[in-house]
Amino acid sequence: MIDIHNHMLPAVDDGAKNDDVALSMLQEAVRQGVQHLVLTPHLYEADIIKGTEPWKDKIEAGKQTVLGLLDEHDLPVKVTVAAEVRYQDMLPIILEELDVLIAKKYLLLEFAFHSVPNNLERIIYDITRKGITPIIAHPERIKPWQRDPQRLEELINMGCPTQLDIGSFLGSLGPNTEKLANFLFDRDAVHLVGSDSHNLESRPLYSKPGHDCLTERYGVEYANLLLKDNPGKILAGKPIDVYPVDLSPPKTGWKDKLLNIFKS
Ligand SMILES: [Fe+2]
Repeated sequence: MIDIHNHMLPAVDDGAKNDDVALSMLQEAVRQGVQHLVLTPHLYEADIIKGTEPWKDKIEAGKQTVLGLLDEHDLPVKVTVAAEVRYQDMLPIILEELDVLIAKKYLLLEFAFHSVPNNLERIIYDITRKGITPIIAHPERIKPWQRDPQRLEELINMGCPTQLDIGSFLGSLGPNTEKLANFLFDRDAVHLVGSDSHNLESRPLYSKPGHDCLTERYGVEYANLLLKDNPGKILAGKPIDVYPVDLSPPKTGWKDKLLNIFKS
């Protein structure tokens, strides 16, 4: 398996707080059968408000630590360093000055949990015009999209893959998150799943349970598509299939309408 989204790089964000935690997370990844980790520390505006050099230094130090731990403990897992970039005004500077892309092509893009910009389509268009494909990080956790999933439709139809957190469909991130995750699965609107692991306690890895769950629900080919094949293409900078989706609310017939009248 490939884990496309996690916070194992030590002492960079709210993920692995030190080398010991990072080592435990790396060992857990190997134990669960992950062969390649894309390390995606949060990158917020505050991280680069005084310039991008401190971020570069922090990332390089974390990367060297991880490579040292893998070597020292003989752990058979590859790592690629990218970032989970929170949408912000400084995005053009980030894309210009920092190595945040996966395979120089894919951007793991996160939106604020309680508000998304109104001009999202324009934002996505501006990014794709640079030859970059945004991957929408855990859309199922974003409140405005939980309330109105159809707002996501146009982004996917513009070619943006979605990445769901495994904890979302396993039910560990709350009922609203689980509900939107399942809705997106039902509408074939999921292209990747990632652990988004921050530690071994409250936000553990769940790659193997995630693969098992998807295998049980939809079959092993689909589980492999989301945890191996599509992430593998992303790492190779190749395109993945993102088909148009329909995220309109479920149609209610006259019986449902009648029932709703009696319920209200
Ligand atoms: Fe994350």
